[in-house]
Formats: sequence, structure tokens, C-alpha cells
Amino acid sequence: MKGLIGLKGLGRAELEAYLDLANRHRETIEARGATVPALAGVTVANLFFEPSTRTRLSFDLAAQRLGGRVITHHPESSSTLKGESLRDTALTVSAIGADVLVVRHSESGTPQSIAEWTGNIVLNAGDGTNEHPTQALTDLLTLRRRFGAVDGLQVGIVGHISHSRVANSLIYALSTMGARITLVGPRHWLPAASELTATTDFDEILAGLDVLYLLRVQTERGGTIDLDYVTRYQLGRERAARLGPESVVLHPGPLNRGVEIDDEVAESPRSLILEQVRNGVPTRMAVLERQVGASR
Ligand code: CP
Repeated sequence: MKGLIGLKGLGRAELEAYLDLANRHRETIEARGATVPALAGVTVANLFFEPSTRTRLSFDLAAQRLGGRVITHHPESSSTLKGESLRDTALTVSAIGADVLVVRHSESGTPQSIAEWTGNIVLNAGDGTNEHPTQALTDLLTLRRRFGAVDGLQVGIVGHISHSRVANSLIYALSTMGARITLVGPRHWLPAASELTATTDFDEILAGLDVLYLLRVQTERGGTIDLDYVTRYQLGRERAARLGPESVVLHPGPLNRGVEIDDEVAESPRSLILEQVRNGVPTRMAVLERQVGASR
């Protein structure tokens, strides 16, 4: 199937190819250099049925940097409100002339369905509790640029893991790239069956980590925020002080400040949160370029 629906099953060579190209795009952006218009004549449609700031804007800018055209479907002011089905909407956007469909939806599996209905290149921008592949690629690029390699890194993934598409894609990608993962959170948010090390005790693992990846508590997917969670799992100054001097903190955003992270840590030198955002555009450029190139 054309497109990028998930990272599950992708091999190391394919992940490295995305990261190598993304890194070249990042360097070109920083140098204010010229980019080959790999998407000349290509129309990219954003179909976001859930809110987004980072993913939608960075796909938009990525397509523009590669010389593509971008059209955006706004569900809150579209014929979706007149009862048009998702399938008819997707077929309509395809018939209008979109070549690539970037899809975010609350239902797991929607990008796959749209790919089957339309035959277009579909890029998953986050589906339900399933996957968010371009976020994980962005995170891998961020780690590779900081540490030189991902192999052997000790990564703690903390919080609302059970409903996190970000965690799923990240776990697939980190495992393939040779990182060692520990899952941390309340027992009811840890996977029932996993080959990975898992613990409810955040404090016991802090000292051994290279990377602390904090997840947003997703209230839209049943997550509840209470004082017990904040007390046991918020990364504040005291916990951050127990990390190693080179350890870094990542978070996919948007941040629940005062819940999973406090302001001081979010803005400290060990926080790579805005660096993750910076890497979002070159990563999505790489995904667009490789997917369009493969279909030509
Ligand atoms: N990380 C992420 O998907 O952010 P947005 O919801 O803002 O796109």
C-alpha cells in the first residue's frame, strides 16, 4: 500500500532513510539553502478531523517547502456538517485533485480505510489510539541529532501509555533502532501484556535514563487528571535534578503544564520540546518526498 500508515513492521534501513533525508532537509533549512521542488505539480490535502497545531502546520509548510500545493479541509465548516460520510468526503477530495491525503482522525484505522477507498498516497497524522508515525520519526531525528545514534539509549516513556498513538509509534521505532525502553505510569495506563520493562515507580528509574519521554494525559481518550497522578508522575525540579547531566526531556505536545511537566523543566536546557517541533517540518518533508518519489 502507498503511503505511511504506521511504523509497525518498518525495518531499520527504511527508518534510517527517512532520518537521513530529514536531517539533510533540516540542514538546508538552517542554512537557508534551496530545496529541490520534489513536490512540483503535487497537491497535498490536509484532512484533520481532530484538532492539531504542530502536525497540520508542519505538514503544510513541509509541502510548500518542497514546491507542492496545499489544500485544507475544515470539518467544522464543511459538508461533513450536512451529513456527508467520511468515505464520500475522502472520494471528493481525491476527485478534486489531491494526490496526497494527510489524515488525522479519532478512529483507529481511518487512514488505512481512506487509502483503500481512494488509492491515494495517505499519510497518517494520528489515528485514534493506533499510531502517529511522523511524530515518532520527528522524535528519532531529535534523539539522533542530540546523541549521534539511538542504539543503546535508555528511554523512559511516562504517563498515559494505554491510549497513546505517540507511544505506540515510538515504541516500534525505538525498538527497531536498538533503544532500551522502560514504560512508567499508573498500573491502569500500562499495557496489560508487553515484552518491555514496565513500572509504576517513576522515582526508581530516573537516574538510569538518557531520555525521559513524557506523554500528555489525553482527557479526550478517557484520561483523568488528579492530584495523585501529578504527585507521582509530574516531572518537576526535584525529579529532574536526579537525572544524569546529559539526560534530556521530550514531550510530543501539546503540554499540560502543571500536570506531566512543570514550567521550569519545560523551559530548562535539558528540554528538547521545541527542538522536536523544529524537526517536524524536515521530517514531514522527508516523508512526503519519499512517498511521492516512490509512487512516480
Ligand atoms: N504532537 C502532536 O500531534 O501535536 P498536534 O496535536 O498539535 O499536532
